[in-house]
Amino acid sequence: MLFQPFCLKNLSIKNRIVMPPMCMYSAGRDGLVTDWHVLHYATRAEGQTGLIIVEATGVEDRGRISDQDLGLWDDGQIAGFKKLTAAVHDRGGKVAIQLNHAGRKSEVPYLEPVAPSALIFGEGYRLPRRLTPEEIRQVITMFADAARRAVAAGFDAIEIHAAHGYLLNQFMSPLSNNRDDAYGGSLANRTRLLGEVLDAVKQVIPADMPLWVRVTAEEYETAGNTPDVVADMLNLVKDKGIDAVHVSSGGLTPFQVRAYPGYQIGFALTIKQKTGLPVIGGGLITNAKEAGQVVKAGVDMVFLGRELLRNPYWPLQAAHILQEAVTWPKAYFRARY
Ligand SMILES: Cc1cc2nc3c(=O)[nH]c(=O)nc-3n(C[C@H](O)[C@H](O)[C@H](O)COP(=O)(O)O)c2cc1C
Repeated sequence: MLFQPFCLKNLSIKNRIVMPPMCMYSAGRDGLVTDWHVLHYATRAEGQTGLIIVEATGVEDRGRISDQDLGLWDDGQIAGFKKLTAAVHDRGGKVAIQLNHAGRKSEVPYLEPVAPSALIFGEGYRLPRRLTPEEIRQVITMFADAARRAVAAGFDAIEIHAAHGYLLNQFMSPLSNNRDDAYGGSLANRTRLLGEVLDAVKQVIPADMPLWVRVTAEEYETAGNTPDVVADMLNLVKDKGIDAVHVSSGGLTPFQVRAYPGYQIGFALTIKQKTGLPVIGGGLITNAKEAGQVVKAGVDMVFLGRELLRNPYWPLQAAHILQEAVTWPKAYFRARY
């Protein structure tokens, strides 16, 4: 099943293998795509990864996780991404971009971090400044502007980063949001910013372009969000046009989970069952049989992060192990198993 195509709206993906977004800390202060990025993502497409999601890309400089992340806050940043998407498309891959605002977890040294509330993430981080309602509106506009640029750059889909304790997750969690206005308190209020970002992004992308959200389904904290709560939140906004959910966990606090292969699959299945939306799931998946089992269990697409960093040709190997047909890159045909 790993090698069966999957469709999200009009986007046809040749198999169920996803490269999740992974910060490569290889951009400069300008946030521009370099030749290295083009090579990095194109290589995974050459290796037959069906869907590549480009690393967390800042919707503003202050919203980057580090000052070595990619950015899409300026029209001048579009051209580099155009090269990147063309390189992936030339190799038969599909490519999405993860748009992010890091909020209180931004470590860009020359800009002050902002957040729903003035609550620090943890040791070594700076105390963020609480966003005003006017600034929240600006954040929404910045997500929409970045999405418009992503469309211009040739991306096939947009992923909104609402996981791992970054700004949208900070609004969603009662542990990082103690606002008493329309953006804090109740479940609906804590989901409001995500909904408004989705509304704004929807307006600037083609109607048939898939849009999805990455969530932290489990915060691993007493009183933190759980898969059931996150599913309830997604149900509040899914009609705005969420085509899938990319399910992850953790990152809202410094707590380190003891991970094992498939540790997040149950979360993905809960989200799928409670929202009725397709899901991308994974976590510590490294071997072909495990990946196949994840899809068989009902997860629509499986992500392999670090494994694809180690081995960009993993899908070719997996097809061999599972005795599935796969298209070998012409240049490497004589090396096929
Ligand atoms: C180097 C590195 C950078 C990452 N950067 C991001 C990121 O930009 N956005 C994101 O949502 N997750 C990020 N992650 C998390 C991965 O997408 C993935 O969820 C995690 O590595 C677990 O999957 P794995 O066990 O298959 O590697 C990153 C992980 C790694 C190892």
